[in-house]
Amino acid sequence: MNPVRIAPSILAADFADLGGAVRRAEEGGADLIHLDVMDGHFVPNITFGPRVVSAVRRSTSLPLDVHLMIEAPERYIDAFAEAGADVIHVHAETTVHLHRLLQRLRESGVAVGLALNPLTPLAVLDGALPYLDALLLMTVNPGFGGQAFIAHSVERIAAAAARRDALKPDCVIEVDGGIALDTAARVRAAGAEILVAGSAVFGGDGSVADAIAMLRAAAG
Ligand code: DX5
Ligand code: ZN
Repeated sequence: MNPVRIAPSILAADFADLGGAVRRAEEGGADLIHLDVMDGHFVPNITFGPRVVSAVRRSTSLPLDVHLMIEAPERYIDAFAEAGADVIHVHAETTVHLHRLLQRLRESGVAVGLALNPLTPLAVLDGALPYLDALLLMTVNPGFGGQAFIAHSVERIAAAAARRDALKPDCVIEVDGGIALDTAARVRAAGAEILVAGSAVFGGDGSVADAIAMLRAAAG
């Protein structure tokens, strides 16, 4: 298994000092920066758009992992690609034309990511995996940081990893939601390679660097 990678989610950072948060994450050993884009429709919450992604782009040389929790994501793929996204994750639940959406993502030149809500059947992977560079498994319901990890996600990650091994071995598996010191080892053992973490990185009393190091150590 590849070494674990930690992707701090800026959703839990101080939005008045995003540049500082991203720099602290980079200096603290983060492997990529996760950006949660929410539209108030696909999920109840609203966050930010391409301008913020491009501001973060100017603040770090780390890869930007952009998680689109928006309806009709095809409308905004080019804007986020131009803003500096390296990976874009679209949700399978947002479209009945997933093949077309993944093709559009590929054409935009970014790495292609597919995000799945906690109860979306994994059967979609049988068709989709050959098109993917990354699979983002939600381990909470998308929309908010700081929620409790859904325990049954562990078996789900293992089942997705088995499909990945069979169909697209170089597709990386990411997990997102409720990842902290108590869950990192379990998701890692199940096959997760990138751990997205918001509260566990930016929400504690200690330094961002310590939080990242502890998460990495906990993941094993
Ligand atoms: C939730 C977002 C997550 C969020 C995770 O919809 O996709 O990336 O930032 O937050 P924590 O790590 O606090 O659960
Ligand atoms: Zn996310």
